[in-house]
Amino acid sequence: MSSSTVKVFAPATIANLSVGYDVLGLALHQPGDEVILRKNKTGKVTISKISGDEGKLPYDPTKNTVSTVIIDYLKQRNLDFGVDIELNKKMPFGSGLGSSSASAVAGLVAINALADMPWEKKLLLPLAMEGERVACGIAHADNVAPSLLGGVTLIRSYHPLEVIKLPFPEHLHLGLVYPHVNIPTSQARRILPQKVTLKDASVQWGNLGGLVAGFCLKDVELIGNSMNDILIEPVRSLLIPYFDALKNIALHQGALNFGISGSGPTMFILTNDERTSSTIADQIQRYLKERNVNSNTYLSKINPEGALVLS
Ligand code: HSE
Repeated sequence: MSSSTVKVFAPATIANLSVGYDVLGLALHQPGDEVILRKNKTGKVTISKISGDEGKLPYDPTKNTVSTVIIDYLKQRNLDFGVDIELNKKMPFGSGLGSSSASAVAGLVAINALADMPWEKKLLLPLAMEGERVACGIAHADNVAPSLLGGVTLIRSYHPLEVIKLPFPEHLHLGLVYPHVNIPTSQARRILPQKVTLKDASVQWGNLGGLVAGFCLKDVELIGNSMNDILIEPVRSLLIPYFDALKNIALHQGALNFGISGSGPTMFILTNDERTSSTIADQIQRYLKERNVNSNTYLSKINPEGALVLS
């Protein structure tokens, strides 16, 4: 007999990892979202409480990713119980940290835990991707896969869906700086070039191969050197205030590399240890503050587990 209340945490993620547009991502320990589900007897899915969203997210269960994925799950499994949803957003949205993915993944892992014969996590992935479609119009998986499965994930193929969890050097550390500017994912996707030259494509796939090899070999130099995105970053960085100056600061202070998290505006600092991440993140935050841009910072290693049932 499964229990009737469950609480789940799903982590924020860094999608793309610079050179792996729509195919690479990693999970963080924090920030992340928390979802509490309570079974009800009405057979309906309702949202009873949302916190941490400054009143911006819809309570209509057909419009919020956290509930749409739950409705799809119940339908797909022919389950007839309903649930009341409490969503505690513990991360900013529109930040490039995979906020909608974290909510969808938390909702799915929670409803799965309430079902009598839970599915293995991997089976939840297509449903979580549909949640992305509700949130931003495209069912990409580079946020939902790491949030659900943890670690560093590679979407080897979308059709058919094939996700590979890569090994990674455990000591790798990330600093994140989220400047308070608004960049909707849809806009950050629209401005990208639809065609690239063969010459540029070859540079990019050399780096993507180098990055995957770097993770597999646990070679931090190779990982850092391979995060050299010549296709997406030059375009998207124009939307982020002082990006080039901030990247300079990070690289001069010993970061392995620096890039845009997902579609931005959050930037990630990749380092070998927490002290370096923290020093650079503070310096970048100060630099932005002096120029009237407020920001939040986060520090995290790579989260190997992904979404977790807390109770
Ligand atoms: N791969 C997606 C993009 C991630 O870069 O648009 C969105 O967070």
